[in-house]
Amino acid sequence: MRFLITAGPTREPIDPVRYLSNRSSGKMGYALAVAALARGHEVTLVSGPVAIPAPEGTKLVRVETAREMHDAVAGEIGEADAAIFCAAVADYRVAEIAGEKIKKTGETLTLTLVRNPDILGSARSAFGFRGILVGFAAETEDLERHALDKLRRKGCDLLVANDVSRTDIAFDCDENEVAVFFRDGRHMALPRAPKGEIASAIVREVEKCASAVAGLSEAGSDVETTLDRGQ
Ligand code: PMT
Repeated sequence: MRFLITAGPTREPIDPVRYLSNRSSGKMGYALAVAALARGHEVTLVSGPVAIPAPEGTKLVRVETAREMHDAVAGEIGEADAAIFCAAVADYRVAEIAGEKIKKTGETLTLTLVRNPDILGSARSAFGFRGILVGFAAETEDLERHALDKLRRKGCDLLVANDVSRTDIAFDCDENEVAVFFRDGRHMALPRAPKGEIASAIVREVEKCASAVAGLSEAGSDVETTLDRGQ
């Protein structure tokens, strides 16, 4: 299969030397790339700025901002059979990037932020993606409710939820612990483990999902209609 994986943070510039970002290290997304390669798949990795090297054998597309990530995904997703959106994309960017370094003048400084494109949310609708779609949910409370909401709204086949209020897993950690929610209502807990192990389990679930879809198509089933796949 051909996998498209997004990873790492995005950086939204404020002025020539400052930006808005988050604590994503890229470890989870890069572990997914390693796991997919190890299982014989082709991988395109669309990555925000991280300090880890891309796994050998991946097609690496480096981006900085959410809009650059959006455009890179738009250009690559047509080739993919499965797309995993693991990147921690900034939901907002500053409305106007200052051309010069902002000077320290008043006691307060107000920045106006505007919404960034929702890349995962564009996969089915704007990009017309028909493959296996995997979203992540980074939540600090009510994990299941938010995860199920994202799964449905964004037309995902799988939604991987992690609790980012914890300091021992998820952001910038070597381990993760996730709950995987499936479009058919199933869910599965993956207990705390190195990100490589969590990634392998997710890739295997994607493969099973792809086999199930292929089986349905071969059987001539009309279950997998456009509507059913979240469009
Ligand atoms: O990089 P690490 O340090 O290893 O940390 C891993 C992780 C915590 C970043 C990862 O496991 C994770 O949770 N990734 C998703 C982070 C996130 O932005 O979650 P969200 O709930 O805000 O977004 C929901 C989904 O929409 C995600 O699949 C996200 O990639 C996608 N999204 C969000 C906003 C946006 N503008 N475009 C998107 O595509």
